[in-house]
Amino acid sequence: MAPPVLLRFERVTVKFDENVVLDRVNWELREGDTCVILGSAGSGKTVLLKTALGLIHPDEGRVMLFDKETTSLRERELGDLRARIGILFQEGGLFDSMTIAENVAYPLENQKSLLCPEADVLPRVEEALKFVELGHTLGKFPSELSGGMRRRVGIARAIVTQPRLLLYDSPTAGLDPITANNIMTLIAKERDIRHTTTALATHRYQDGHLLANYRYNANTGKLERGKPETRFVVMQDGRFAFEGSQDELEASRDPYVSKFAKPLEKIS
Ligand SMILES: Nc1ncnc2c1ncn2[C@@H]1O[C@H](COP(=O)(O)OP(=O)(O)O)[C@@H](O)[C@H]1O
Ligand SMILES: [Mg+2]
Repeated sequence: MAPPVLLRFERVTVKFDENVVLDRVNWELREGDTCVILGSAGSGKTVLLKTALGLIHPDEGRVMLFDKETTSLRERELGDLRARIGILFQEGGLFDSMTIAENVAYPLENQKSLLCPEADVLPRVEEALKFVELGHTLGKFPSELSGGMRRRVGIARAIVTQPRLLLYDSPTAGLDPITANNIMTLIAKERDIRHTTTALATHRYQDGHLLANYRYNANTGKLERGKPETRFVVMQDGRFAFEGSQDELEASRDPYVSKFAKPLEKIS
């Protein structure tokens, strides 16, 4: 039996004024999927993820999230549904006036439907920060951390609720290659240890390549070669210009699509 569908777009169109930014998109995420969304700046990746969360409402079509149609829900029900998803926004979105521990605790303390007992908050915050190897930063403020560390705090905040579905929006944007690789390793670690369904939007093919060709080994604490089933999507002007496997992507002759699939010489 096929795993359950967690998210489904049915001919979803989103417009800003007359500007069509998602154009009749069909998209499906099943439990356990890894989906890599490639596309140039402005192609619609962020709008796609925000529409999945119900932060943007479709002008046409429907979005089904955990079997519920998001457009038919009240804000409160939508909030409860959203609480079951982990999200790392492109901008990071940490609160500057809160400590790292307070930032990571935020979803646990503010999403009532999660019913997290007060006594469990701190242990879970500590666990999430340990997961991203920032266990020593609880009392610090975001301004005291580097860009890469702040991104890791964002991951801790996304996973602290132990969601089944995680959406990462351009998690490596603006980072140097080594830090970017560390962030991607954490994303693979989360996927492979907790078996979370993962959607990653990025303009870096390396990021998708890593998820599609490496698995995190909990015993060694390292990535090793593997072929986790991974689907690639390439967005172009609000449409899926491509959807398929990595091999199919690398074989594409489409001039736009093939730009995102330059075979890599070597990835360490
Ligand atoms: N709130 C908004 N109002 C108007 N236009 C928007 C808004 N958000 C995104 N857009 C437009 O939607 C398109 C897709 O944007 P986005 O999803 O952010 O692209 P990407 O994440 O792929 O770089 C762009 O043309 C952008 O200008
Ligand atoms: Mg974006």
